Amino acid sequence: MAQWASSAVRALRLWGPGGERAWARRPRIAGGWTPIPFSAGVSSVFGNGGDSKKEKLSLQDIAELIRARACQRVVVMVGAGISTPSGIPDFRSPGTGFYSSFQHCDVPYPEAIFELTFFLHNPSPFFTWAKKMHPGNYRPNIIHYFLRLLHDKGLLLRLYTQNIDGLERASGIPGSKLVEAHGSFASASCTVCQRTSPAEDFWASVMGDRVPRCTVCTGVVKPDIVFFGEALPQRFLLHLADFPIADLLLILGTSLQVEPFASLSEAVRSSVPRVFMNQEAAGALAWRPRSRDVLQLGDLVDGVKMLAELLGWTEELKDLVQRETGKVL
Ligand code: APR
Repeated sequence: MAQWASSAVRALRLWGPGGERAWARRPRIAGGWTPIPFSAGVSSVFGNGGDSKKEKLSLQDIAELIRARACQRVVVMVGAGISTPSGIPDFRSPGTGFYSSFQHCDVPYPEAIFELTFFLHNPSPFFTWAKKMHPGNYRPNIIHYFLRLLHDKGLLLRLYTQNIDGLERASGIPGSKLVEAHGSFASASCTVCQRTSPAEDFWASVMGDRVPRCTVCTGVVKPDIVFFGEALPQRFLLHLADFPIADLLLILGTSLQVEPFASLSEAVRSSVPRVFMNQEAAGALAWRPRSRDVLQLGDLVDGVKMLAELLGWTEELKDLVQRETGKVL
């Protein structure tokens, strides 16, 4: 029996007698049958997600559902943890996170440099930090390329990122599949007249230890990242369309401490599996777990490699990383 079929049988067996109800066939159309995948009947398969009698899901079960195409509208939420393997510190890891290591005589507390009021009062500490974030300084890592593979295989509905490093885009995931919820360094605008400032001018000033200024009104130019106190980009509202139809939620490398992003973790239907890969349990998955949650705690690279292995994607992932970075895994 073809491997995908055995995965489908296992997925059916996993969900008990109701499993076959999740398969139905649309009338024959050009190109043959298009079976309605599990995801169409996911709640009829998983029930309402409230019954705790069903066995706990494992990462292997998730891989079976993906291989059986029972999950093909995957929404992903990521945080700074996916970029630490690229050399970018996260924010809250004890000892290594930015908030525990940043010291600056003019800054009352580390988070202040991302607060709009403080920035308008004294932008220099922010630009001291920003200098390290120059786009050329970091490259995507295997986690970004795993998500790129998810896109290449037509499984990624949308990737919601809190990261401003642009590494998701740099890995080849198209902008149409991305919601950069906290903005990015890709553009910059004047805090006074709102004129867009060319990125190269912005970076020339930052790398030259000068506060970037608008060439028209001399106002301070700020990168289009979302500071505390600022509204999220309109594009964030895509979640209203994406999360209700998602049939799998992957949450990678985030402490789920910043709203409104963190609440998205509860925006999928209760019957939809949620996979949380992180050093430690966090957010609603820690204090309000659901019966279909899979917590893969520990190093993110190990977790992603394990899921890739279970999916049979290990070689493809290695080839992609090598093609894109020249690095041999
Ligand atoms: N493997 C597994 N987990 C990791 C790894 C790793 N290699 N590296 C970091 N982590 C985990 C940390 O344990 C932590 O739980 O990733 C999580 C990162 O959490 P934060 O540092 O809080 O980052 P994030 O959740 O993205 O912060 C959200 O806060 O300051 C704001 O705007 C900023 O977007 C940021 C937001």
